[in-house]
Amino acid sequence: MNLDALAQTAQEMVANNRGLLAADESTGTIKKRFDSINVESTETNRRDYRELLFRASGVGKYISGAILYDETIRQKSDDGTTLVDLLRAENILPGIKVDTGAKPLAGSENEKITEGLDGLRDRVAEYVELGATFAKWRAVITIGDHMPSTYCIHVNAHALARYAKICQEGGLVPIVEPEVLMDGSHDIGVCEWVTTKTLEAVYHELYQQDVQLEGTILKPNMVISGSDCPDQASTREIAAATVRVLKRCVPAAVPGVMFLSGGQSEEEATRNLNTMNAEQGPLPWALSYSYGRALQQSALKAWLGDAQNVPAAQAALLERARQNSAAAAGTYQGEAEGKAA
Ligand code: 13P
Repeated sequence: MNLDALAQTAQEMVANNRGLLAADESTGTIKKRFDSINVESTETNRRDYRELLFRASGVGKYISGAILYDETIRQKSDDGTTLVDLLRAENILPGIKVDTGAKPLAGSENEKITEGLDGLRDRVAEYVELGATFAKWRAVITIGDHMPSTYCIHVNAHALARYAKICQEGGLVPIVEPEVLMDGSHDIGVCEWVTTKTLEAVYHELYQQDVQLEGTILKPNMVISGSDCPDQASTREIAAATVRVLKRCVPAAVPGVMFLSGGQSEEEATRNLNTMNAEQGPLPWALSYSYGRALQQSALKAWLGDAQNVPAAQAALLERARQNSAAAAGTYQGEAEGKAA
């Protein structure tokens, strides 16, 4: 393993207030996104949509890496350029989702275990050949009656560490993503407690399995109120609770924390990240973004599957990316800034 190279890639992913574009929706998930705009989810439509995102001129100023799905890392545009080369032309690192999804966890109804370890070493080698420099694996932790179980947290943390070690040996920076879902009526205190337990278990396993933290990125949820909780925490409460948990659980050797948006609106995800960076520093790690929905929602709505709308969709992506990059610097001025610009 070349730890220096891994650490350099991880540093590059968070440098200059840039963040990641999570464009690794599985075939099932992208179908849901396309259903929302009445576009059929064909291979060509999926290619056209991702191509427009990656061709948005200037997006590399705000986006350091894009997470791809297996289909996308193999695709070419009509002019024969691979989508990987389109990213490289914008100075964006190609990354790859390597888990095969969250499946029912044996012995615990309603909880999930993420699969994909079988054959992972060989798949990593192939993805490196195809141009990937980092990888992602998402574990899902659900809050509810008697959930999460200690068992669910433990097996998911164990699998995340096994994945991370295999990636590092194969030359990919592992993004370690334990997502505590926002679904439910629990308050922010419950999310804080569960996120703490989860991150503590994850870093214990990474340590036990000798994962080199300098060559990793953490992709956590923010600590927020459940989506059905009547008492929604404020941005400042979210920022304070999230940073408190990270300080307690995440070693300073980790170069970057790149949040998922997890169902927050575009504006909420940007504001919460900005408040952490503006009010909670100094911090040992960079705090940035690895958003899927919170970077793509406006672009998807502007596109509507129509080639004529490509410039408008690209402008929408560029604007979200610019605002999130400002949030990574702690200088985001709110919606008014977006309108003025
Ligand atoms: P969201 O930002 O839409 O949660 O997606 C990020 C992601 O990659 C989830 O695995």
